[in-house]
Amino acid sequence: MRIESITLKNFRNYVQACIQPCEGVTVLAGANAQGKTNVLEAIHLCCTGRSHRTPRDKEMIRAGQDECYVKVAGVRNDGSHEVEVAIGQQGRRRIKVNGAQVSRSGEMLGHITGVMFSPEDLRMIKDGPAERRRFIDMELSQLRPRYYYSLQRYNRALKQRNALLKEIAAGAQREECLDPWDSALAFTGAEIMHLRKWFVDMLLGFAAEVHSDVSGGSERLCLAYEPDARLCSIPEETRDAYLTGLTEKRASDIKRQATCIGVHRDDMGVFINGDDARFFASQGQVRTCALSLKLSEIEMMRADSGEAPVLMLDDVMSELDPERRRQLVKRLNGVQTIITCTDRDDLAGADIGRLFSVKNAVLTREGE
Ligand SMILES: Nc1ncnc2c1ncn2[C@@H]1O[C@H](COP(=O)(O)OP(=O)(O)OP(=O)(O)O)[C@@H](O)[C@H]1O
Ligand SMILES: [Mg+2]
Repeated sequence: MRIESITLKNFRNYVQACIQPCEGVTVLAGANAQGKTNVLEAIHLCCTGRSHRTPRDKEMIRAGQDECYVKVAGVRNDGSHEVEVAIGQQGRRRIKVNGAQVSRSGEMLGHITGVMFSPEDLRMIKDGPAERRRFIDMELSQLRPRYYYSLQRYNRALKQRNALLKEIAAGAQREECLDPWDSALAFTGAEIMHLRKWFVDMLLGFAAEVHSDVSGGSERLCLAYEPDARLCSIPEETRDAYLTGLTEKRASDIKRQATCIGVHRDDMGVFINGDDARFFASQGQVRTCALSLKLSEIEMMRADSGEAPVLMLDDVMSELDPERRRQLVKRLNGVQTIITCTDRDDLAGADIGRLFSVKNAVLTREGE
């Protein structure tokens, strides 16, 4: 996959901008708060259907404006792909794929594929399960758009069920009203569980080798999908087990006015040499591990679709020691990469193809 151009209008601090990254490494360099991450966020929006920084679309609209617009155009093995997203103040999105308007957000997925590595990802190992679920959600949505739809349906059903639990607790609704929502959660939840298990198993296939390499052979990495609800091997059985779980917990859910079991509480176990990295990993191990997971995602997407996604590195070079930086740079070969940095010295060793300076939301190509 290769991105040919990125166009922004009224996006974050940008009035208007358009850049053409090169095939290899493109650098966006500038002082803090000038608009470097904003460019990566716009690309990420076109890759995954959401910002990597905020669940609130409206934040991306330039202050005082009615609408923001992003267009990312690129080429894949099968030809040109273009994704356009416009977001209005009412939160409404207009999305076009290859020039044609689409009605569902999920239809934009899989055209522009990318992996973002930002300083927040370094916290993924030690932060709560929500961060690890987010990691799975972002990648899996790009790999399998149907996952994105299941997740949307699940979250909607969960919201409805939780609202209903409050009404039941207040005596305003009968318990039986939960039945259709329990079925919806079990149905979509089982689908999500199966795809998450597939994803984590497949990721491990790459991560074990990548991590051994990145850690210089001293560490063995293991990943395990840890579903909150009991997982069975047959989807129909998972659904039944899920439904039974929800029914068993119904009384306590009503008391707590919240749904206490389900895929919204899943986790991914990360183990280094058999120890649970979520609790025991050192800072250095956490960094190596996050780097391995990101590099493995690239390999996984390459294996799945036959081409590597675009890699976005948001100021992570400065967070890595020279050896890990070397490991990262070594693997950039054949992967279009866009790097942001404040200090160009952090990029030592990278083969920079194109450089833009970013100042107050103006992108200027250097050497022109
Ligand atoms: N909706 C918005 N409207 C206008 N400006 C915005 C909006 N959202 C963010 N900004 C501005 O964008 C700037 C931050 O941009 P960005 O996060 O891309 O910075 P950066 O160059 O990556 O900085 P750092 O090096 O600190 O990470 C800030 O000046 C912020 O005020
Ligand atoms: Mg930034």
